[in-house]
Amino acid sequence: MEKKNIDWSNLGFGYIQTDFRFVSNYKNGAWEEGVLTEDANVVINECAGVLQYAQTVFEGMKAYTTSDGRIVTFRPDLNGERMEQSAKRLEMPVYPKEKFVEAVLKTIKANEAYVPPYGSGATLYVRPYMFGSNPVIGVKPADEFQFRVFTTPVGPYFKGGVKPLTIRVSDFDRAAPNGTGHIKAGLNYAMSLHAIVDAHKQGYDENMYLDAGSRTKVEETGGANFLFVTKDGKVVTPKSHSILPSITRRSLMQVAKEYLGLEAEEREIYLEELQDFAECGLCGTAAVISPVGKIVDHGKEICFPSGMTEMGPVTKQLYETLTGIQMGTIKAPEGWIVEVK
Ligand code: PLP
Ligand code: COI
Repeated sequence: MEKKNIDWSNLGFGYIQTDFRFVSNYKNGAWEEGVLTEDANVVINECAGVLQYAQTVFEGMKAYTTSDGRIVTFRPDLNGERMEQSAKRLEMPVYPKEKFVEAVLKTIKANEAYVPPYGSGATLYVRPYMFGSNPVIGVKPADEFQFRVFTTPVGPYFKGGVKPLTIRVSDFDRAAPNGTGHIKAGLNYAMSLHAIVDAHKQGYDENMYLDAGSRTKVEETGGANFLFVTKDGKVVTPKSHSILPSITRRSLMQVAKEYLGLEAEEREIYLEELQDFAECGLCGTAAVISPVGKIVDHGKEICFPSGMTEMGPVTKQLYETLTGIQMGTIKAPEGWIVEVK
């Protein structure tokens, strides 16, 4: 198989149309088998549930070329499980986990020519999603749905690669205490668009959202969870029912304990304690681990000792171990790596 002629090392995080995508429709209470198609367009009724009431959920994952030339993906079962939770919360039918993983692997395989080579710094981003497709005008769930998976080759999520980010504490809320922050619903991202455009205008890379109830605790950013390292080398991450349970974060907590011998704890983290941490990073499929150098809270600057030029030492160890596992240079825990054959 010949790779596409793409300048892999200079890719940003954007959409490049690839050759195949997977489509399955839900009608009369059942999912059809689903097929790969070359048609990248979706044609739906003007009154479709997704267009009127944002009934849509999605996932984000990646395919990697390993050092020995295999194509693999990372913990796809967990994305399948999370999509199940997301679908249930928005009154959508569950696309079964096994079928989800099968569809993802099939779509990656069909787009093999777009999986960036090992060492290029790029990966193939995989986007499974589902939406209400039939007309709905009273506020209620659709009863027909479409599940799709497409892929796009991507480079780093944040421009500048691993240069530490500057984040501001946002005055906007991302998720209500008993809302939908813990699922991957398109509506959560619509909520964050004004805040991110405004943050960029003011010169910040991302927003730190606080808990909407008390506005004293750290939640997450628009597209990644937070990780902090204490001055005595412990890894801590916010515990909250209104943040997305990041698969990268859950994996990193295990990596910290089992590979690096560090203490790792999920707990409530107060805005007030940020100044006590030694390192900060954002973690997610797109973000991988992106170091944060500075957080600005309404003019008050919290500068992490790791500085604005390099990743902090613990963040770097976490980054190298996780990406080593994903690229096949470090032995993975059982079940984390699934080969695309
Ligand atoms: N938080 C939000 C809001 C996200 O959009 C993402 C991306 O998926 C994450 C966290 C990270 O989750 P994961 O590591 O599963 O990609
Ligand atoms: C991901 O990391 O997969 C995300 O979904 C984050 C962002 C691109 C929305």
